[in-house]
Amino acid sequence: MRGGERLQSGSAWDKGARQNDREPKVGGACGPCLREAVRRFEGCHTRILTICEELEQLADGLPALPSNGSHLRLARRMGTLLRDLHAQEEQEILPVLASALGVEQVADSIATLTEEHRTDEAVADEVCEVLLEWAAGERHHDAATLGYMLRGLFDNLRRHSARERDQLIAPAIRRLTSG
Ligand SMILES: [Fe+2]
Repeated sequence: MRGGERLQSGSAWDKGARQNDREPKVGGACGPCLREAVRRFEGCHTRILTICEELEQLADGLPALPSNGSHLRLARRMGTLLRDLHAQEEQEILPVLASALGVEQVADSIATLTEEHRTDEAVADEVCEVLLEWAAGERHHDAATLGYMLRGLFDNLRRHSARERDQLIAPAIRRLTSG
């Protein structure tokens, strides 16, 4: 994510949100703020699901690695990309959805989903480490183990995204469309 896109306090987006006091409210959030948060949330998921597709293609091709080096590019950027997307969700998106849906109602969901972010980041780091070892010819793990790690990671990321969609995005859209 580009730093300028972040919805930090004092940003143009944040000021715009506060200036929209006359806009219809959804729970404790302004309607346009919630709509923008949902759009950003869906954008995060699109990027995470693209990573999942890349991981699945890699797992399907084992024990061979792509000759075009795509696994190296993935290994070098995946950890940072996941952390950026998770930070965007936690700092800029989830607070808006919590305001709209009720902080107490979604507190447990958000705590669990945030824990899952940390777990997925740690697993992604391990996968990247093994991929880089493989690329360097240091194969301390066999193909079956690497495949297991890759599948575990993309399965978790897909399940996590589906939970966020079911528990947060879908209710937020229902609130937006119910007027
Ligand atoms: Fe998430």
